[in-house]
Amino acid sequence: MFLELDGQGPQYAQLVRALKSSILDGRMLAGSRLPPTREFALNLGLSRTTVLAAYEQLRAEGFINGRVGSGSYVTGLQLTPSLPRPANAADTAQSRYAERARLFRERKIARLHYGLRYEMRYGDPLTNPALNAAWGRELARAAAYSTLGITGSWGLPALRQQICAYLARRRGLLTEPDKILIVTGTQQAYSLCARVLLDEGDTAVLEEPHYFGAYHVLHAHGAKLHPVRCDDDGLVCEELPEQAPKLICVTPSHQFPTGAVLSLPRRLELLRYAARKQCWIIEDDYDGEFRYDAHPLAALRSLDEGDRVIYAGTFSKTLFGTLRMGYLVMPEALREDLTTAKYLSDVSSPGIEQAALAHFMESGGFERHLRHARKELQCRREALIAGLRRHAGDRVEIVHSPAGMHVVAWLNGYDHERAEALMWYAHERGLGLYSMAPHYFVPPKRPGLLLGYCSLSVAELRDAMQLLGECLDAVPA
Ligand SMILES: Cc1ncc(COP(=O)(O)O)c(C=O)c1O
Repeated sequence: MFLELDGQGPQYAQLVRALKSSILDGRMLAGSRLPPTREFALNLGLSRTTVLAAYEQLRAEGFINGRVGSGSYVTGLQLTPSLPRPANAADTAQSRYAERARLFRERKIARLHYGLRYEMRYGDPLTNPALNAAWGRELARAAAYSTLGITGSWGLPALRQQICAYLARRRGLLTEPDKILIVTGTQQAYSLCARVLLDEGDTAVLEEPHYFGAYHVLHAHGAKLHPVRCDDDGLVCEELPEQAPKLICVTPSHQFPTGAVLSLPRRLELLRYAARKQCWIIEDDYDGEFRYDAHPLAALRSLDEGDRVIYAGTFSKTLFGTLRMGYLVMPEALREDLTTAKYLSDVSSPGIEQAALAHFMESGGFERHLRHARKELQCRREALIAGLRRHAGDRVEIVHSPAGMHVVAWLNGYDHERAEALMWYAHERGLGLYSMAPHYFVPPKRPGLLLGYCSLSVAELRDAMQLLGECLDAVPA
């Protein structure tokens, strides 16, 4: 009998796969006898134990019957011998969702190289060993004391309470624990809102430029996306569509990625529009905590008398992204439906992490960390901007926005092709630069760089900007 083992995993499993495929494609007919184990092992160069284990497995799955000693036989249950080879699984239809979601893989902001000396990718966390140690202690404590039951889809009451206190203190937002839903980050927040608010073909407004994550969740869900321009005062509300959208997604405290703040007149205009057109607003407050010139701005939802703003907060920026912890402040009318969508999605967010976070907030550790992080980020930001001015000079235009965890720099005189060449060259030299273009429906005329600086120290940022200057020399406009 000719058998080819595929070399993947344990030998007995390889033998099981090879025999199964012989049975299924009719090379071994029902009733035919398998070779005696000792002889078969010798032929295949395997141990007898391996062959015995394979036969046991096939017997357990109903492919063969009989006993060791009296012979093993292919059962009569298998499909007919003339069974055609199964069609390639890749040709079997998938959902429209999966088809649309492919766009995400095609457009994903790729790291060109790993292990770069200076990685300026937006989204990498602030490096802070003290936070790692404190978080480790919180987790250990929570694991020892938490009851290991499911926390309920809406989230741990102690954490929801802490979030309410934090929102009132830091974001001017008064709410109750009953309106808070704990989610695994803003990404899930968008996904739950899409499920509850949008049918395929419904219109959702996105800022132009916009947050890549929001675009792809809504696109994959089947929403029709309508871009509305942003200027120095944020979303240009007078350009909102005449025909009512179902949903508007905004980043009012710190427009992503330009850094603009939605002005008060625009905030009021946006709320009036939503009331007039009967649509919902998602306020994505991803890094509103980090303002370096003044106190953080009050949230849009704090002005929302019509209860139409779904506020999405995250700990991805204030702590770290791999925590996958965020929350929604839900309008009364959506409370039940969003909570049900959360249950149907993943039942609830991880309980031990919720308990650890609740205690970290209650004990004051979170606020202490925020004070430290704000100071540290401000130093890093200043080092980045000083380095940019010194080494890039008038070859870049730095967008003023004293907030957040990234800086936008437009490349003067470059076209997109030249900017790509610059980024490639920089990556080759160990400097990870990333383009603004993926955050646009239609790329802007002038190319720009989105410079994340969280994961580099002040000294590294100085060196990185010197290297950027050298790259600009080597790849001029
Ligand atoms: C605009 C915006 N929203 C939300 C997030 C955070 O998403 P999550 O909470 O899913 O990590 C980010 C972070 O990259 C962001 O830039």
